[in-house]
Amino acid sequence: MTRPTLLLTSITVIILSLSLLSACKHDPELQETVNPPDDTTQNPTSQCSPDTIYFEQQILPMLQSGCAMSGCHDAGSHEEGIILNSYANIMATGGINISNPTRSEIYEKMVESDLEDRMPPPPYPAFTSDKLALISKWISQGARNNSCIEAGCDTTNVAYLTHIKPLLQNHCQGCHSGGNPSGGIPLVIYADAKAIADNGKFLGTINHLNGYSPMPQNSNKLTDCQINMVKIWINQGAPNN
Ligand code: HEC
Repeated sequence: MTRPTLLLTSITVIILSLSLLSACKHDPELQETVNPPDDTTQNPTSQCSPDTIYFEQQILPMLQSGCAMSGCHDAGSHEEGIILNSYANIMATGGINISNPTRSEIYEKMVESDLEDRMPPPPYPAFTSDKLALISKWISQGARNNSCIEAGCDTTNVAYLTHIKPLLQNHCQGCHSGGNPSGGIPLVIYADAKAIADNGKFLGTINHLNGYSPMPQNSNKLTDCQINMVKIWINQGAPNN
């Protein structure tokens, strides 16, 4: 696609989402899903900069698992007309302030000290300071719809602490933690991960196998590399290493 066509497409998506958002508030019958934007607009490069925060790999999974769950800000529930499941929908909230990242409404909601207003609300846990730092840095870098996939998949020394725990934190804990974890399954401590490793549900759900609910729910499938890491760790006996 040429640049002007791309621009037009994005504008159309934004206008569409805006009209849908306002429509949803007043007309409960109009609850259509806004299709995620065409992510091919940004070619993933294999030269990822360690100083750059990448929306598709670092920010979107966090918002999908921490905010866009059912009953909250997914396309079906759109609490307060806010949908946080795609770049277009996130930008359409108007809650991103590039010139003053920590004054972005989305960010302010996450650090709100009044628990009644904080997002995600209890019993969901607050975003950790690491996650908040990533979000404000991404906004300060222009809140771009960028993407970067590391070339190759380094599967040497796969371990719980360095590979599996961060994966659960970024892609699963938004729903599977707190006082009322989804499906009654917390995925917070080692024993939680070991349990779904041993009963086959870890690989069943992330591989979208028949008979298992596909996970992470409402988000993109994990990458082949991530799935491979989990498989290698489980084949080692899912150790606490
Ligand atoms: C957006 C919310 C959400 C995210 C993110 C999410 N889950 Fe779930 N998960 C659910 C819900 C809701 C259920 C219970 C309903 C169901 O089974 O579909 C569930 C159920 C499960 C189950 C039981 C499914 C079965 O077939 O018995 C497993 C195992 C699971 N999730 C693992 C994961 C893993 C691993 C991740 C991260 C890679 C993850 N989930 C991310 C919402 C989520």
